[in-house]
Amino acid sequence: MDHLVAVPGRVNLIGEHIDYHGLPVLPMAIGRHVRVSFRPRTDRLIRASSVGPFGHREFEWTAHLDCAMSGDWENYLRAAAQTVGARWGAGVGIDASIESDLPPAAGLSSSTALLVAMALCLLRANRIEPRFEELMAILPDGEQFVGTRGGGMDHAAVLASRRGCASLIAFEPMSLRPIPIPREWEFLVAHSLETSEKSGQRRQEYNARRTAGTAARERLGFRSYRELVEHLAGDDPGEMAQRLDDPLERDAFLHVTSEAQRVEAAVCDMERGDAVHFGRLLNESHASLRDRLRVSCPALDRLVDAACESGALGARLTGAGFGGCAVVFCEHDGIEDIEHGLIERYYQDIAGFDPPRHLIRAEPSDGVLIHDPNPAA
Ligand code: GLA
Repeated sequence: MDHLVAVPGRVNLIGEHIDYHGLPVLPMAIGRHVRVSFRPRTDRLIRASSVGPFGHREFEWTAHLDCAMSGDWENYLRAAAQTVGARWGAGVGIDASIESDLPPAAGLSSSTALLVAMALCLLRANRIEPRFEELMAILPDGEQFVGTRGGGMDHAAVLASRRGCASLIAFEPMSLRPIPIPREWEFLVAHSLETSEKSGQRRQEYNARRTAGTAARERLGFRSYRELVEHLAGDDPGEMAQRLDDPLERDAFLHVTSEAQRVEAAVCDMERGDAVHFGRLLNESHASLRDRLRVSCPALDRLVDAACESGALGARLTGAGFGGCAVVFCEHDGIEDIEHGLIERYYQDIAGFDPPRHLIRAEPSDGVLIHDPNPAA
């Protein structure tokens, strides 16, 4: 194989379930990757094999691609080809080989990483080098092809994060500002071992949260959540929430607005190095996701409690929720105690716990556009 594209996963530090409402979020890319090595072909065939249980897939890259069977990983390949093809036209295909050390269905964006990796391979095979903004204009929509239309957080984070930094990602207009993470701050990604598949029931649950939040905003007469949050100007959203009769809409509204305020405060804490307050914001975020948006699950709640009992400054579910991972925050001196504490309090009795896969020290890493020297050029 001639070329390599390595797309990292991401962990969201704070700002959950608000990117699809156009509000800023604070993830970082992590040092685990989906790696695709590829060789351009001369015809339109896209052939991909994946190490592990997924096997081999191939199809012809045509102007209009249909979905493969629901739940089949080929849909990510098709989504990439369809997305690139719709903007630049179908081109030559590739022979690709895929490897990953990113746990799937864990809320670490493994599926976005695969979609982005395949899209970049196809673009490079056809000598197209789009800018970050151009990619951001097409990639989040591309995921609709596989049934979920999230926000743009994952794509932005895996494309353009910077080593040693979190990424403050804003939408409307799209921007990414690297925020240096204080040296002694550490983030652990702890898997609940409850997987959270991005299909079926979970997709409906995700979309229901989005719909409730949008309905609340419309009922309050705002064109965007950005306007709404500016209008609140840091005030408690509780009073405005009383105008909402539907409890689901009210809770979604309270989560979205309070989470947006927490993101703003978290950025200040990170810039000032206020670890204690930053940790408190993570805990508040988890409580809001659990009690208001109801996207946690008993395993994640136990994991977050175990982290706090083990001395973490803060912990919360990360990603869409309904299973997957928690992000655990501490300072460097405490990290080993917390790892031991989590094993004792949470993992001890769980079959299948494998520390290198399920309890990860997250290294704030470069996105694929930053460190990848464009090998196909
Ligand atoms: C998923 C989506 C993201 C974001 C999170 C929740 O990971 O892909 O865009 O909405 O859920 O914050």
